[in-house]
Amino acid sequence: MSKKYYQLAPDLTICRIVNGMWQVAGGHGYIDHELAIADMMKYHDAGFTTWDLADIYGPAEDFIGQFRHRLSTLKGKEQLDRISALTKWVPQPGRITRPIVNESIERSLRRMNVSSLDLLQFHWWDYNNPYYMDALKYLSDLRDKGIIKHVGLTNFDTEHVQTMIDSDLPIVSNQVQYSIIDRRPEVKMIPFCLEHNINLLAYGSVCGGLMSELYLGRMQPSIAELNTLCLRKYKQMIDAWGGWNLFQELLLTLKRIAQKHNVNIANVATRYILAKSAVAGIIIGVRLGIVDHRNSNAQVFNFSLDKSDCNDIDAVCTKSNNLFEVIGDCGDEYR
Ligand SMILES: NC(=O)c1ccc[n+]([C@@H]2O[C@H](COP(=O)([O-])OP(=O)(O)OC[C@H]3O[C@@H](n4cnc5c(N)ncnc54)[C@H](OP(=O)(O)O)[C@@H]3O)[C@@H](O)[C@H]2O)c1
Repeated sequence: MSKKYYQLAPDLTICRIVNGMWQVAGGHGYIDHELAIADMMKYHDAGFTTWDLADIYGPAEDFIGQFRHRLSTLKGKEQLDRISALTKWVPQPGRITRPIVNESIERSLRRMNVSSLDLLQFHWWDYNNPYYMDALKYLSDLRDKGIIKHVGLTNFDTEHVQTMIDSDLPIVSNQVQYSIIDRRPEVKMIPFCLEHNINLLAYGSVCGGLMSELYLGRMQPSIAELNTLCLRKYKQMIDAWGGWNLFQELLLTLKRIAQKHNVNIANVATRYILAKSAVAGIIIGVRLGIVDHRNSNAQVFNFSLDKSDCNDIDAVCTKSNNLFEVIGDCGDEYR
């Protein structure tokens, strides 16, 4: 058994399964606005009260604003305290000035209908452009003023998180891809996070849905058969990791473990990463108003994997390529 909620900071509690909103940005089917907001209410009622979003995820920040308005009207203002909304700022590479930072954060505040951001996760495309240090400094100033409660990062590698820490820029979290097949964080990032008390928020842990019964025993799908951007993205990751046949062997192993615990493959994949050191939460993408896996994903909190389960999973993975060697550290796939 494991706890459903986690204290990311004294004033910031998150649900350990975070609703990922990249899916509303396009490439994941038509999102009906009304149905989406109604679905957000259902996630909230089921206790999935934390949202991961970004300024660049289409209408995601507006959805948070409208959802907050709807929730407070229907169920009372006190319900708003249960929500945590973790947004990102993903600026275009270029010179970063204080007014640019202030305007971007003000836009997110307005869109999300909040007076302060719970967590602002900063992404930077190009380490050769040194303005990321200025950006972090200005974001830290906004945190000191209470406009941002906490500053985090996304897709930063260990070396550059180290630079932040050396410059006395405190970081609460780093959001990175982390799954049974993509274990790059284990090489450098997790040891570093443990030493410096930084939390990891993991995404891609169910590989866009490929880690599920739906793909067990199936022939290798072509890219055209994969109808969402995230399925295509993680299929490429599987190809780099070891290919479809090895992935089938992994799915078979996960299925056997799932049956033992009376859960499903996605639950085992999520549970495995949730139990890893430094991992505060797993972000699972939600296609609002289209399909929901709420009941399924709630099972993650009702069981634990034992040592033999983990050994069996790890034994399959020893046959794979080492993605740290193939791709590099966390976030290197974006650079
Ligand atoms: N910082 C970054 O650069 C970055 C990058 C990627 C993602 N993210 C964040 O992380 C979130 C999640 O990552 P992701 O979208 O890449 O991938 P993901 O969470 O691995 O995949 C989401 C998909 O998995 C399927 N799924 C979820 N629960 C399931 C279950 N219990 N059984 C079977 N299938 C299940 C659903 O597919 P169907 O809807 O098709 O059923 C869902 O749309 C994003 O929404 C975003 O917030 C951040």
